[in-house]
Amino acid sequence: MSQALLTLDFLDKVSPTPEATPSGEVRVSAATRTGRQRKLYIESYGCQMNFSDSEIVSSILFDEGFDTTDDLASADLVLLNTCSIREKAEQTVRMRLSQINSHKKRNPGLLVGVLGCMAERLKSKFLEEEKIVDLVVGPDAYRDLPQLISQVDGGQKGVNVLLSREETYADITPVRLNSNGVSAFISIMRGCDNMCSFCVVPFTRGRERSRDAHSILREAADLVAAGYKEVTLLGQNVDSYKWASADGTEHVNFAQLLEKVALVSPELRVRFSTSHPKDITDEVLHTMARYDNICKFIHLPAQSGNSRVLALMNRTYDRPWYEDRVRAIRRILGEDCAISSDMISGFCTETEEEHQDTLSLMEFVRYDMAYMFFYSERPGTLAARKLTDDIPLEVKKRRLQEIIDLQQLHSAERNQRGVGRVHQVLVENFSKRSKEHLSGRNSQNQVVIFPKQNFKKGDYVNVLVHSASASTMLGEAV
Ligand code: SAH
Ligand code: SF4
Ligand code: F3S
Repeated sequence: MSQALLTLDFLDKVSPTPEATPSGEVRVSAATRTGRQRKLYIESYGCQMNFSDSEIVSSILFDEGFDTTDDLASADLVLLNTCSIREKAEQTVRMRLSQINSHKKRNPGLLVGVLGCMAERLKSKFLEEEKIVDLVVGPDAYRDLPQLISQVDGGQKGVNVLLSREETYADITPVRLNSNGVSAFISIMRGCDNMCSFCVVPFTRGRERSRDAHSILREAADLVAAGYKEVTLLGQNVDSYKWASADGTEHVNFAQLLEKVALVSPELRVRFSTSHPKDITDEVLHTMARYDNICKFIHLPAQSGNSRVLALMNRTYDRPWYEDRVRAIRRILGEDCAISSDMISGFCTETEEEHQDTLSLMEFVRYDMAYMFFYSERPGTLAARKLTDDIPLEVKKRRLQEIIDLQQLHSAERNQRGVGRVHQVLVENFSKRSKEHLSGRNSQNQVVIFPKQNFKKGDYVNVLVHSASASTMLGEAV
């Protein structure tokens, strides 16, 4: 579990990972001490969208008289912002609720709420299953939190799991929790219309909608003014971003949005996640090529290397299409553009040969990084209704291990490519191992560690890399 950073300034955080992908990480709210009456402790699970939503929730509740705290023992309200993506994610939350339950026995006045995807999936059933829960609030209903909390203060339970076709929280300025003051996330869209057969997200997050481009640009400009140096534009499928002004005179697609954000400041690095292989266009790639401050890193989840499995997954592309997109990246952005992926092993009916196709796709792309999972059936999804989860757990796990082992080789190889070269690194923090070293990332999102000298957080430093492992590169400022 990641440790919260104790800080008086809520514009300060622990190092972020830039993907809209579940990382297994748990985020705890940092402390804001402005003398407000009640204390909110919020723990976030799952993907960056959830971490970003917790910042919106904190902002809504800050206006209602809540400071955030990183200390559960001093909280008046505990919120868990939950994830449903795999069964294990839900088990983690249940275990956490039982720990909080024993804490509540000693503090009967404590209010406990569940937010996010698990709240949306289970709805009021949550109140029956977990007696300790007072509040169940889905991802599109956070504006209703103040009203629901006063309902709970009045002795009732509070539930709102209505999904919306419009809500983007565009006007809410997030309270930056756990911020290092260098990197921040900007949600540019919500929901997903894709219906991949394994995935619960369309059910928990609702229909896809894009946020007003002007509010995104304002948020980016405000972050620059506050000293931030990097933003990550977040959405389940950013390449299908599409916004039109109410009078119909303005239309902005993702490539155009990316360009507008890049133009906010040449000092601001721009990242984005996640790209869906069916939607990433050459226009986006050419925009990336035109601006040095758009990072050369694309998270392009393949899920599988076999066309039959991809069809069963309802990913709407096949292997040749995916390979074509990778070739386009290499053609337009060169060999140095990093590509990462998500992979699922042991999806319904996957044969041994089809699993080999996943490994051979990995050999073809040579990913810089990947998030790898074995298939976990989710209730209500297309796959749960129409397909049989027939691959034994040991087989799923063995195939996953083969995928992980191969990725390990490729990550090491990609990092090795960086040795002997100079990288522009944005400093994010001290190295975890030593206060004499700084840690940051290059454009390709590779972690680079080097002796501190007189450099500090937020600096761009040119670092000559002299050695590399699968996870980090080591070097010296030049
Ligand atoms: N919108 C992103 C993915 C979001 S979920 C995209 O389309 O790429 C993040 C990852 O979790 C997915 O890419 C997938 O690899 C994994 N995942 C989703 N549902 C899963 C399931 N039922 N079992 C195992 N892994 C799953
Ligand atoms: Fe899930 Fe597919 Fe949507 Fe990604 S694109 S969130 S995997 S349904
Ligand atoms: Fe994210 Fe998990 Fe929901 S991955 S969108 S928090 S199901």
